[in-house]
Amino acid sequence: MSNHVYIITGASSGLGAELTRQLLLEQNTVFCLSRTENDDIKRQAVGYRYKFYSIDLSYAERVALIMQDILATIDPININSITLINNAASVSPIKDIQYCTQEEIISNVQLNLTTPIILTSNFMRLTSEWKINRRIVNISSASAQYPAQSMSLYCSTKSALNMFSKCIGLEQDGKPNSVQIFTVDPGMMDTNLQHIARTSDFELSDLFSKHKSEGHLSEPADVALNLISLIESSVKKNSDIIRLY
Ligand SMILES: NC(=O)c1ccc[n+]([C@@H]2O[C@H](COP(=O)([O-])OP(=O)(O)OC[C@H]3O[C@@H](n4cnc5c(N)ncnc54)[C@H](OP(=O)(O)O)[C@@H]3O)[C@@H](O)[C@H]2O)c1
Repeated sequence: MSNHVYIITGASSGLGAELTRQLLLEQNTVFCLSRTENDDIKRQAVGYRYKFYSIDLSYAERVALIMQDILATIDPININSITLINNAASVSPIKDIQYCTQEEIISNVQLNLTTPIILTSNFMRLTSEWKINRRIVNISSASAQYPAQSMSLYCSTKSALNMFSKCIGLEQDGKPNSVQIFTVDPGMMDTNLQHIARTSDFELSDLFSKHKSEGHLSEPADVALNLISLIESSVKKNSDIIRLY
């Protein structure tokens, strides 16, 4: 029986759902956070160590309590590692910034940036006495480095998430019982996020359609497989931004 625990945000579809499926099959304990539960995973998870929390992660002030609830159910004596995967994100709103509402701006920044920061902070503090491997994986994007019109919130929150991870990596370097933190750019995957980018009315939608029609999108199941082997490998990756493609 595996003694590894994973906490995954955005586990109902795309990359998060595939990570959850594969980690459950490896007999890991998986805590999933998103607004909706994936019915297939719910069926698959019968008899496995799986718990789903329904939460809208764009309300960042609610996420600390969930992290406390999750960690309170775990006895660190019985596990070897715990990994937080900040995966949930949204590419919306796809609009020039002057047309974004205040609510859309706040919602995007909270989901893509504030929530991962608060989860990271609480995870690190509440597990600080746990003598096990502790890891945080932040899912980023090439958009963190390439400015794009009508995608300013997505690009800038991903860019800030990269910098946040590097800063925390520095804070942890050389500390006893440190947390390993790194960022992963998974590359373009055939998920709902890509569908939204293709079907939105903006300058780059044709480019996103071309990526799909020319077969440039990876299957999220393949990306999840690579990401799990990266997480489980003992290669030192603190503060790194790792491209999976
Ligand atoms: N697809 C790509 O080409 C691509 C490329 C580079 C990076 N990425 C990154 O990869 C990660 C996964 O993306 P994906 O492509 O797998 O996206 P996806 O299929 O759209 O899945 C997004 C996940 O986030 C959750 N989510 C969205 N808004 C939420 C909210 N307000 N509260 C709670 N959960 C929320 C969704 O669940 P609910 O709707 O049930 O809440 C869903 O489980 C993201 O960080 C993304 O930026 C993707």
